[in-house]
Amino acid sequence: MFETSAASDKPDYDLLNKQLASILEGERALMTNAAQFSALIFNSISDLNWAGFYFCSEARTADQGRPCDLLLGAFQGKVACVRIPFGRGVCGSAAQERKTFLVPDVHAFPGHIACDSASNSEIVIPIIKDGKLYGVLDIDSPRLARFNAEDQAGLESMLAAFIAATDFGSLPSV
Ligand code: SME
Repeated sequence: MFETSAASDKPDYDLLNKQLASILEGERALMTNAAQFSALIFNSISDLNWAGFYFCSEARTADQGRPCDLLLGAFQGKVACVRIPFGRGVCGSAAQERKTFLVPDVHAFPGHIACDSASNSEIVIPIIKDGKLYGVLDIDSPRLARFNAEDQAGLESMLAAFIAATDFGSLPSV
């Protein structure tokens, strides 16, 4: 069985990338790889209360004209909001703007969606493959300003490796 080291305050992202490559080797199924990725992150980085994915799905939320909803995918943590409208909250904003949102204090972010009241800071990275947006990776911490530029670079490199190692098949994209 694969063993990961204890959760770290300053994760070694080179080591995490090696562990990720080994975990994803030989399997390209989306939900499998997303579940494994969430578990690796959640158990390797200290002070997290939630880590997981929202994937594009046909828009069903009230406002019409959205390109998609973000539907809850594989994650670690407490039960979460199921459907996030495109453009709403930190996740929807990162999807809409196709860029990473590093939020040191979620309570100061207009429109933040509080799925878990323990969350105080958050990082959301869009999942983009061949120019198409498939969803976002969302990681939450109870600690204010938990994530810095080093975490952003490390997590973006891990997500890029996940994207390259995974088939998105017929998942809707924008
Ligand atoms: N806080 C997020 C919602 C997702 S949960 O934190 C898991 C947001 O504002 O988009």
